[in-house]
Amino acid sequence: MIQTREKTRSFAAAVTLALILSFVGALVAAELQAIKLNPPDLKRGLPFMQALSVKASAREFSEKELSLQDLSDLLWAADGINRPAENKSTASSAMNAHDVRIYVFMKEGAYLYDAPKHELAPVLAGDYRSQIMRARPPRPAAPAAPPAGAAAAPPPPPANPPVQIILVSDPERFRRGTPELKLEWGALDAGIVSQNISLFCAATGLKTVPRASMDKDKIKYLLKLADTLNIFLNHPIGYAK
Ligand SMILES: Cc1cc2nc3c(=O)[nH]c(=O)nc-3n(C[C@H](O)[C@H](O)[C@H](O)COP(=O)(O)O)c2cc1C
Repeated sequence: MIQTREKTRSFAAAVTLALILSFVGALVAAELQAIKLNPPDLKRGLPFMQALSVKASAREFSEKELSLQDLSDLLWAADGINRPAENKSTASSAMNAHDVRIYVFMKEGAYLYDAPKHELAPVLAGDYRSQIMRARPPRPAAPAAPPAGAAAAPPPPPANPPVQIILVSDPERFRRGTPELKLEWGALDAGIVSQNISLFCAATGLKTVPRASMDKDKIKYLLKLADTLNIFLNHPIGYAK
């Protein structure tokens, strides 16, 4: 009898704790504020040909968070609006569809870049940076040893980049085209944004690498992405270690 009462009490305590934690979680999510980005500094960076000459992937980063100006300039370079009258941006996109969404994971949470407003809209509170960069093993389980001539496994995900950018294409942004073409255009558009990021980093001394490896299921779940969206690339970004 006493044991049953004890069990009931600890069950009630566990339920109360779970309720408190979910309430606190909801409060934290509600507290994540939009980040107003600074106007781009158009005078910074190496001349274009010099930037190309130092462009290189990097997989080690200082843990120092990015300054607001670096974050602002990075996102504007990636796909910021540079011709507002025509709603056109630094990254070309098929049919000017602006199909590529730029999600930004940082210490305090995940955000979506709003190019027309040049600000980061809050999506999810909490630090998920260490959970999204590693590709899940393929299902069904891979054989223990890869067959001769198989592609080498990709390098492990970089440790502790302060910013992780995820490039996602929304095929529904294209007014016409078959599903295959929309997938192709989306991949090309994401590649163009990716190269803008790499060249901005090369020009300004920031470090990055374009990566296809990541946990797409986890990213979809965390960001509540519709199954129709295509996650193409990620970019860890930070200062030199
Ligand atoms: C589409 C694409 C996917 C890539 N995926 C990964 C990846 O998953 N992990 C990784 O460490 N590097 C990845 N890379 C980076 C390449 O390994 C790197 O660009 C290549 O070795 C050339 O080096 P560089 O970027 O310094 O010129 C990827 C690059 C591209 C273009």
